[in-house]
Order: sequence, then structure tokens, then C-alpha cells
Amino acid sequence: MTEIRPSLSAEIVQRVDELAAISEAPDNLTRVFLSKELRAAADLLMAWMREAGMSAHMDAIGNVCGRYEGTVPGLPCLMLGSHYDTVRDAGKWDGPLGIVAAIACVGDLHRRSVRLPFVVEIVAFADEEGTRFASTLLGSRAVAGTFVETALASRDKDGVSMRDAMVGFGLDPARLSNAARKASDVLAYLELHIEQGPVLEAEALPVGVVTAIAGATRLAVELRGMAGHAGTVPMALRRDALAGAAECIVAVETLCRADQGGLVGTVGVIHAAPGAGNVIPGLTSFTLDIRAPTDDHRIGAVAEIRRTVEAIAARRGLALQIDVTHENRTAPCAPWLQDQIGDAIAAEGHRVFTLPSGAGHDGMAMIDIADIAMLFVRCRGGISHHPAEHVDEADVDASARVLLRVIEHFKPKE
Ligand code: GLV
Ligand code: MN
Ligand code: MN
Repeated sequence: MTEIRPSLSAEIVQRVDELAAISEAPDNLTRVFLSKELRAAADLLMAWMREAGMSAHMDAIGNVCGRYEGTVPGLPCLMLGSHYDTVRDAGKWDGPLGIVAAIACVGDLHRRSVRLPFVVEIVAFADEEGTRFASTLLGSRAVAGTFVETALASRDKDGVSMRDAMVGFGLDPARLSNAARKASDVLAYLELHIEQGPVLEAEALPVGVVTAIAGATRLAVELRGMAGHAGTVPMALRRDALAGAAECIVAVETLCRADQGGLVGTVGVIHAAPGAGNVIPGLTSFTLDIRAPTDDHRIGAVAEIRRTVEAIAARRGLALQIDVTHENRTAPCAPWLQDQIGDAIAAEGHRVFTLPSGAGHDGMAMIDIADIAMLFVRCRGGISHHPAEHVDEADVDASARVLLRVIEHFKPKE
């Protein structure tokens, strides 16, 4: 078995805790794209990368990139990564575990003076969650060269544009394309991540091989009615945008619940204006996140949801606008990489188990320039995007051992 110092998982857990302490809120973990907390986390990551024998820098979008050279200069890389932004009131493992586990593996190679016939690169992506601006996967899209520049005009909840936030962070939006990598420089992209679901726990397994990352569609829906006096306008004469949104939300839930094929729909954000207890809401906007195991299923469901929402808006006399803020196809994990992860899992003495990912990951963007793969780690109760997210240290150790073995035995595609 690959020898990992017993303290390796202790170091990973301690670093996950250190990153979790960097938050905009004193009593919960929230670290969003281009914030001062993200900058502080980046500095810590660069210091850890350098300690692990890597060169480290921040790229043009705020990703932290570490490079561990191979046997000779100028080799292509095996890219490891995950994200260091979070959702609001997040758990501490979603994203950071994959970054600090990768750093720990490189640190182990460095201590043993092992050089490989390829570069090991670690990229800590600055935005995967899309918490601050409507669009997601901004860090990995910049690396894949698919960042859409119009996103720079989008604004956060305080009205700050992404362009201004980048400048405030010390980055130059005009140089964004410098973050892009060439496909010929990346042999594969591999991410270790918590499962964020209950399957591995039910299988009594610490790790699993991901087969594909399910696609997702995110919509921004706006309903416009007529604001008015809460005491004087009879119910039959109202065009209440919030009541219309409520009917839409329940209709989406009913549609997804009736589906037998794994369709899920979530409204995670809703705003009503003008926002006073004695005023009928004239304007409501909400987000809608739709996912399904196959693209055809998701695309069909989104079309049906659109028709349903349109019918509700028309019946209630509400003007409707629906914008697609995010659309990602299902990203299959490369079979040749799944095999190498499976071999490492078996060599570490675990049963090889494969499962799909319902959650989105940076591999969805990286697939445009490289074959991708993921190693999932069991998390308690399948809980994620919640402060109760938890991974046992023994599972951290098991996953780091597998990752190190994959790196050391990695064979590029013939
Ligand atoms: C990312 O965590 C997502 O699946 O939305
Ligand atoms: Mn994640
Ligand atoms: Mn997440």
C-alpha cells in the first residue's frame, strides 16, 4: 500500500478547519467570489502549495494555481482541483477538501523527492457555486477558455458589477483570457469531492468512482403585476406577483414530485417588491434550478415548467420574463480515468463502486479541454450545502491514499 504518514489526514482536516474560519459572517461560513475573504483564503492556499514544493500564483480570474514540476521541464500536467468559494451558510468540506487533499498528496511526493513524468497542477477555482453572481463555474470556465465576457456586466445583490468586483480584487478584466489553458497542456482533470448525497454511506464505503456529472438548468423568473393598497383592492381585482410566484413554485414542486425519473427542482432565492406588509407585491423574482439524470429528461422538464409558469402568469394577468442564467449538459467521466481510479481503490482494499453525481462540479467546464474524472468521498447523512456537512477523518485518509495512488500510477491516455 502507498505509505501516507499518519498525520496526513490530520493536516487535511486542520486545513479544512482553517479555511472554514475565513468567512464574511462571524457565525456561519460564507465565502463568495472576489470577496476579501476569498483573497485571504487564496493567500493561505498559495502558502500551503509552496510548502508542498510547488510554485504558486493567482491567475487572471482569481483561481489559485500550484505547479509541481515533473522529471524534465515543459511537460503537460495532470490537473487536480476543486473550488474555494462557498454557498451561503455552507458546510466546510464542499470544495476545500479536494484542494487541501491534493496539496497533501503533492507534499508527500515532495518529501519523498518523487518526480513524475508529468507536471501535477492543482487549481483552486475561485467560483464554482455561483453564489455572488447568477452564473456558476466562472473559475473553471476561465481555465477552459469558455468564460462568456458578457457575464462581467452581471451584478451582485448590492448592485456591484462583476467587472468592478474584479478590479477591487486586484484583477484586470481585460486580461481574463490569460487564465485559459490549452487542451494539449492538460492530460486529464481529476477532482476529489464529497459525495453530497447518501449513497456511499448506504453502501458502507468510504469512496466511489463517479460515472458522470448530471446537467443542470438555472432560470431567473420575474413576474410583474400591480402593487396596491392591502386594505382597499378587492381580491378579485388584484394582480399579486408574489401570490403568482407562490402558485408557480408549488406547481414546479408538484411536477417534480410526480416524476419517477429523478427530476429535481429548487427555488432557492425569492424577492418581492416593494416589500411592505400593507402593500400588494407588484414585482417578484425567483430562481429555479432544475436537474435530471439525463439531458433529454431535463430539457423536456424545463419546457414543461415554462409552459406551466406561462399559463399561471397569463391567468393571473402577470407579465412574465424567464432568463436562462446557467445551462450545463451532463458531463461523462472518461472510462480510462474511471479505470485508473477503480484500480487505486481496489489496491487500497476497498470495493470499487461507481455512482453518478447529482451535484455540479468544475469538471463540467473542464471537459471542454480535458477528459475528466472524480473520486467521491462519503459524507455523514449525505448532508451538504449545510453547516452540518461532515466527513470522518478515516474517510479523509482513505480518499487521500486513493488520490495519491492515482497520481503516482497515472498513465496518460495512449
Ligand atoms: C454546486 O454545488 C451545485 O451543484 O449547484
Ligand atoms: Mn462543490
Ligand atoms: Mn456546492
